[in-house]
Amino acid sequence: MSDRLVSPNISDEEQILEGSLRPRRLAEYIGQEKIKENLGILLEAARRRNEPVDHVLLYGPPGLGKTTLCNIIAAEMGVNLKTTAGPAIEHAGDLASILTSLQPGEVLFIDEVHRLARAVEERLYSAMEDFALDVVIGKGPSARSLRLSLPPFTVVGATTRVGSLTAPLRDRFGAIYRMEYYDITSLEMIVHRSAGILKVPADEGGIKEIAGRARGTPRIVNRLLKRVRDYAQVRADGVITREVANRALDALEVDEIGLDQTDRNMLTTIIQKFNGGPVGLDTLAASTSEDSETIEDVYEPYLLQLGFIARTPRGRVAMRAAYEHLGLTPPGGESGPNLWTATP
Ligand SMILES: Nc1ncnc2c1ncn2[C@@H]1O[C@H](COP(=O)(O)OP(=O)(O)OP(=O)(O)O)[C@@H](O)[C@H]1O
Ligand SMILES: [Mg+2]
Repeated sequence: MSDRLVSPNISDEEQILEGSLRPRRLAEYIGQEKIKENLGILLEAARRRNEPVDHVLLYGPPGLGKTTLCNIIAAEMGVNLKTTAGPAIEHAGDLASILTSLQPGEVLFIDEVHRLARAVEERLYSAMEDFALDVVIGKGPSARSLRLSLPPFTVVGATTRVGSLTAPLRDRFGAIYRMEYYDITSLEMIVHRSAGILKVPADEGGIKEIAGRARGTPRIVNRLLKRVRDYAQVRADGVITREVANRALDALEVDEIGLDQTDRNMLTTIIQKFNGGPVGLDTLAASTSEDSETIEDVYEPYLLQLGFIARTPRGRVAMRAAYEHLGLTPPGGESGPNLWTATP
């Protein structure tokens, strides 16, 4: 469902607009303080030694700023960025042509790095570790293997599924950063910054309202800002106040903590059809007509973060907070023990 307002995945329209809102330098990058500090040291040390940056792996839910951070790494090092994605490199030969075209110090961004083909991934090991590439020349009995040396370069890998990465690949990244959902203050700063760039007048209350419904995700915060701007221009005097933002987001059916109809449907399915769970991922997918991978990568991370659901070995369970949010009575009644507070 790409037209879902609170989807953390990028839409086609955003592909074009995101460029203008994307922070270019580390100092402009809001939030993720721990990563910023560690990355700042990594970059500074590499600059002083006049070496390329160590390979960096960024992981976390969609829309939190992995691609942005990769662009920043290249910009801060003053080097070129080449971008590709795991599924785009089909054969070892594709990888060889990408790697041999790199200039010294350049950054190679591999998005969805967990989806690299096996044969490609194995070639990447020596490239990352020794800056060397083994190529096979010729076929049959006369084939021989040749080791090409590559200029030193930096791989930045991004993934929403770090668990799907093989251990040898993961181990080749010198720095591994986990992206966190943004806190409210950071989201407010992002709305403030984006409103400035888009020249949308917004007061503090309006900014707070948008930030609070953005599921801790910069991409969503920017999207909500644009939709609220539309509403403000058509149904109000163009200024985003708390009241305008409130009305706009209610009309868009994004509730006060950023859940939409799909989230609520998933929660009520677990609670009402499956008695609060546990329910297996595939069963849940079938009963909500969603795709199980989408549930796992897109919907679920935020519900887990809120403590609305939990993962157990037997499946997903709804937690007390979810019942309360939906106005339903948790198992055991209002004051009774919650069956599921003892997880995970
Ligand atoms: N720290 C930040 N400060 C301000 N804006 C940000 C920040 N991080 C991300 N953004 C905004 O959010 C948008 C989405 O970020 P980005 O494309 O980097 O996410 P991503 O993690 O690569 O997502 P995906 O997993 O879908 O590839 C960016 O265009 C940018 O405008
Ligand atoms: Mg990205």
